[in-house]
Amino acid sequence: MSSPLPQAKPSALLPDPDAPAPYTFERVQRDSDGGEVARLEAQNLLFEKARPLDQLPPTPPDGAILDLGSGTGFWSARLAERVPRGSLTCLDRSGELLDLARTRLERPGGPRTAFLLQDLRALDLPQGAFDLVFTSMTLAHVRELEEVLNHLARALKPGGWIACFEPVQQSRRFAEIHPPCPNLDFLMDRLLDMVESRGSDLSVSLKIAHHLDRLGLEEVALRNYGAALHGEDARVCLRDVFLPLAWAYLRHRWEPGLLERRMEAAAREAPAPHLWLDLRRAVTLARRPA
Ligand SMILES: C[S@@+](CC[C@H](N)C(=O)[O-])C[C@H]1O[C@@H](n2cnc3c(N)ncnc32)[C@H](O)[C@@H]1O
Repeated sequence: MSSPLPQAKPSALLPDPDAPAPYTFERVQRDSDGGEVARLEAQNLLFEKARPLDQLPPTPPDGAILDLGSGTGFWSARLAERVPRGSLTCLDRSGELLDLARTRLERPGGPRTAFLLQDLRALDLPQGAFDLVFTSMTLAHVRELEEVLNHLARALKPGGWIACFEPVQQSRRFAEIHPPCPNLDFLMDRLLDMVESRGSDLSVSLKIAHHLDRLGLEEVALRNYGAALHGEDARVCLRDVFLPLAWAYLRHRWEPGLLERRMEAAAREAPAPHLWLDLRRAVTLARRPA
C-alpha cells in the first residue's frame, strides 16, 4: 500500500477565503448605515491631538513611504508632506477607501503616489524598497501578524523604519472615562467583547514589539501615548466614534429596541462639559539594520 501523501503545508500568507476577517470596511460601513468613513475621520482628528506623527523618525525628502491599511488617506496625506520629492504608496484591500485616499492625495506637487489594492495577508511588496513603513489601526485586525511583519521587515531599505500605531490595553477598556457612566461602561464592555470575538487583537502592540525584536530589527521601542479629551471633545468622541461603533457591532446581536435604549441612556449620562476621557494607543518603532 502506498504511504499517504504528506499534508500540503498551507502558506501562512494565503488568506483562508472562508475565514471572516476581523474588520472589513464594507461590513462596518454597511452595519453603520454608511457612517464608517465619518467615524474614522472623527477618530483620527481626535487622536491627532496627541500629535502621533511627532513620534516618527525623520524621512529623507526624496524617500519612499508605505501606508499599510491606508483607509481614507487621513495619515497618508500627512505623510506625503514628509517626502515632497519622493514617493508614497497606499495599500488597502478596500477599493472604496483607496479611491477616497486617491482623491485626498490628488493635488499638484507632492510625492509620486501609488495605490495598491492588496490584502495584507498576501502581500507582494518589493524588497528593500521603503524608508518608512507606516500603519495605523490595521495590524490589530490581522491574525497572521508574524508573517505580515516578516514581509514588511524585508520591504524596508537597510536603515529604514517601521512604525505601527495600534491599540494598547492597560485596563481592558477602549478609554478611561470619568465620572463613571454605568450604561456607557456596559456598552463599551459589550463592544469590546464583540470586537475581540471577531478576532481583532487590542493588545497587539506588545506582540509587534516582541516580534520585531526577534526579527533582529534595531532600536525597537514601544511608546504609549494618549489624548486626554474633555468637555466637547469627549462628547464628540462618544457621539461620533464610540456610539456609532457600538451600533455597528452590536445592533444585529441585541433584541430590537434594547440597544437603542441603552445608547440613549449612555448619551444622557455623559455629563458634558465635565466629562473626561483618556484614549490610549501605542506606537511601535523599529529600524532595519543599515
Ligand atoms: C480601522 S481602519 C484604519 C484606517 C487608517 N489606517 C486610519 O488610521 O484611519 C483599518 C484599515 O485596514 C484595512 N484592512 C484591514 N484588514 C486588511 C487586510 N487584510 N488587508 C488590507 N487592508 C486591510 C481596512 O480596509 C481599513 O482601511
